[in-house]
Amino acid sequence: MITSVIFDLDGVLVFTDKYHYIAWKKIADELGIHFDESINNRLRGVSRMDCLNILLEGYKGKVLSDDEKEALATRKNDYYRELLAGMTPADVSDSVRDTLSELKKRGYLISIGSSSRNAKFILDKVALADAFDAISDGNNIDHSKPNPEVFVKAANFLNQPCNRCLVVEDAKAGISAGKAAGMATVAIGDAAKCHIADHNISEVSELLGILL
Ligand code: BG6
Ligand code: MG
Repeated sequence: MITSVIFDLDGVLVFTDKYHYIAWKKIADELGIHFDESINNRLRGVSRMDCLNILLEGYKGKVLSDDEKEALATRKNDYYRELLAGMTPADVSDSVRDTLSELKKRGYLISIGSSSRNAKFILDKVALADAFDAISDGNNIDHSKPNPEVFVKAANFLNQPCNRCLVVEDAKAGISAGKAAGMATVAIGDAAKCHIADHNISEVSELLGILL
């Protein structure tokens, strides 16, 4: 029996994935690296530094030091935060807000399970910070998805066993993380195209047909 729903944030509840794309594209252009949608899809769910390492697979220049890589990751985050600064509550659809409150009404606990260290900043901007029973994010983990840590921590914060949790994800790495945690999985967006989750949906509100 499922008691709890753990939502990825970027690309599931808010479309910050388009801002990640713009910010990484800017870094890629500065370094003369080819960047496209299929590379971008590999960045979903993984940590900032892991994203940079994926991007640098296409880098033809000299080997970069750890300090240079840290500076690039920080610059990407600065570009990204400039875009996040313009977000407002209107960036969350009525359908997402209604689905979250209906799940609460049905008695489910709900949590965020995001690799992002900007998760709380985003939730504040879009006025969703108080909607969740727990928030597990990039600030409380050592390993990002596909490692299950962020979801296992969310289950711990909710005080629920992992096999009572269901994960909602747009990243292939996130579905793998949910499965590794022993949780049920629902894929949306890019992850739904991979057909590796227990359920595939095209709209968050479809969860209400799965979680009765
Ligand atoms: C995830 C995104 O939610 O957070 C990844 O899908 C991103 O693309 C990761 O790299 C880390 O985000 P941040 O905001 O800490 O750079
Ligand atoms: Mg995501």
